[in-house]
Amino acid sequence: MEVAEIFRLAPLGIRVPDKLRRSCENSFLVCFAFVAGKLIGMGRAISDGEYQAAIYDLVILPEFQNKGVGSRILIELHKRLPVENIILYSVPGKESFYEKFGYSKMLTAMAKRTKDVEIFRLNGYVE
Ligand SMILES: CC(C)(COP(=O)(O)OP(=O)(O)OC[C@H]1O[C@@H](n2cnc3c(N)ncnc32)[C@H](O)[C@@H]1OP(=O)(O)O)[C@@H](O)C(=O)NCCC(=O)NCCS
Repeated sequence: MEVAEIFRLAPLGIRVPDKLRRSCENSFLVCFAFVAGKLIGMGRAISDGEYQAAIYDLVILPEFQNKGVGSRILIELHKRLPVENIILYSVPGKESFYEKFGYSKMLTAMAKRTKDVEIFRLNGYVE
């Protein structure tokens, strides 16, 4: 299964396969989860390798959600990020999932979109 198809089914939005592949190639870390050779999820991090990292695209196929796979990917990414600060966007409503891993809501986070600005707002990511 293509990774973009996992995003569509999860759901976590629409990804263009070529762009998704390049975004993984350009990431600091990518973690894929397989069951019996079948790709069922992923997560990735971008980082400067010293101070800062950001986790993106944590996504699991629906039939494998709530079985601990997302948690495992997050733990594996954390183990390999040699930094003092990790940020991420939670999907609205999933904040408690990340709080269990020590994440706190940021009070001064700012995001600037260059695409789909209104969708980002309507989906509850920004004021
Ligand atoms: C959000 C997402 C990545 C979490 O991954 P996941 O594999 O479903 O998460 P886990 O199974 O590790 O944890 C989910 C819940 O199952 C529980 N759980 C963990 N291991 C478990 C197990 N072995 N058996 C049953 N439940 C388990 C966890 O405690 C957690 O509880 P919570 O709902 O109170 O947080 C996944 O559900 C997903 O892809 N969702 C759609 C896309 C999305 O929203 N991505 C997030 C981007 S920010």
